[in-house]
Amino acid sequence: MNKCSNDTIVEKNFSSIHTLNPKRNNDTLSVQEARLFPYYAGYSSSFALNVLKSLSLDKDALVLDPWNGSGTTTNAANSLGYKAVGFDLNPAMVVVAKANAVSYADAPSLPHLARLLVDRAQVHKMFDSAADPLRVWLTPQSATHIRALELEINRALVSFDRYASLKEASVLNEISALAAFFYLALFRTTRRLLRDFVPTNPTWTKIPRSTLNRKRPSASLIAETFISEVQSLSVKIFSQKQVKTKKVIPIALQMGNAEDIKLADSSADAVISSPPYCTRIDYAVATAIELAVLGLSTSEFDSLRRSLTGTSTVTKEPKALNPSWGPTCLTFLDAVYDHSSVASSTYYFKNHLQYFASLSRSLSEVGRVLARNGTCVLVVQDSYYKDVYNNVPQIVCEMASNSGLELVHRGDFHSKRSMAGINPKARMYVANRTSTESVLYFRHG
Ligand SMILES: C[S@@+](CC[C@H](N)C(=O)[O-])C[C@H]1O[C@@H](n2cnc3c(N)ncnc32)[C@H](O)[C@@H]1O
Repeated sequence: MNKCSNDTIVEKNFSSIHTLNPKRNNDTLSVQEARLFPYYAGYSSSFALNVLKSLSLDKDALVLDPWNGSGTTTNAANSLGYKAVGFDLNPAMVVVAKANAVSYADAPSLPHLARLLVDRAQVHKMFDSAADPLRVWLTPQSATHIRALELEINRALVSFDRYASLKEASVLNEISALAAFFYLALFRTTRRLLRDFVPTNPTWTKIPRSTLNRKRPSASLIAETFISEVQSLSVKIFSQKQVKTKKVIPIALQMGNAEDIKLADSSADAVISSPPYCTRIDYAVATAIELAVLGLSTSEFDSLRRSLTGTSTVTKEPKALNPSWGPTCLTFLDAVYDHSSVASSTYYFKNHLQYFASLSRSLSEVGRVLARNGTCVLVVQDSYYKDVYNNVPQIVCEMASNSGLELVHRGDFHSKRSMAGINPKARMYVANRTSTESVLYFRHG
């Protein structure tokens, strides 16, 4: 029996699954403290581990996350001894996910390596570029000190003596966990020094009102902060000793688009993921500081932002509505188009159309790469456009069934706090709005 409704039940093998709430803060305090990067968009490690255990995969199974973010799925898969592949279009998140793979055996040597990198960075003091994106938040001199550290990490751990930019997928895909670790430490250093520009809303990064408001940390403060970040990250890595496997298990973490998954047909045994929300939250903006450390120029940042599913921008080429997206999606899009509020039939309609076009293409790719009888578990959240309910879980079910993915189990978790609720204007239309996060299990028929 298969059905795509709010009721649970469905197929006998899956009916006994006890689904954990995916919310990040459901992890134990020690697991939360062991996280290397505070990615607001992630689900909890205990959720990913629980799902993986519930699937009873073969020991040589391949687990895929096409929207891998900070790497919660691939990390959990790896700790249970499964091969894993994770893609994300945001290079900063690929670095974060790769850094998780640093061996706990290397942890004690990391602070010493950090000091060597700091010493060697001194020779780059004269490096100066007016185009450095870090200058948005930092004075030229401070930006130069951080860039010098970045050049040193790159030269020592990525490319011998020439600079190889992590903006290039071919470079980023190949970097070691050690290189990713030091880049992550530099991300955290820069974020810490720029904390006045990091608001409580985790999806945003502030820009100084004028160049006079830019930060001017000294070279020694930057060096101390970097060493202290490496020290605390090393402790976190070492604390994972109990959960990390000793075996070397293949894990591939790459810059890649869920709309065009670089895997052969039927090659993945399980997909566990959470697609971008339909709440016009720009994932690139939340990592603007990290992307500046990687050297993305304003135009490169803008094109990354536009390429991410769920972006608040609208592309120039119009997207065509496709009847195969299912009745729930089409009815919702009609309601957006007909809504009386400003720009509903123009910007907002196009923006939602673009989101669903991307989601549909991605789900069809998931269907292509997932093996027969493989399981796909997706965490999705409903939302609202003004007062119009956007039943994303139902839309995902209807789209997935086009790709041979049939719903076999569903768990719903209600919450007062949602990604949509972060936007205060959204609350104007529906008072006391709650949201539901749904965990959808699909079987590939
Ligand atoms: C909801 S988050 C996933 C978080 C992840 N489950 C974790 O635990 O960290 C969605 C991710 O999808 C990425 N993304 C957005 N559009 C994408 C696309 N077209 N292809 C691949 N990744 C994309 C975003 O950068 C973001 O990291």
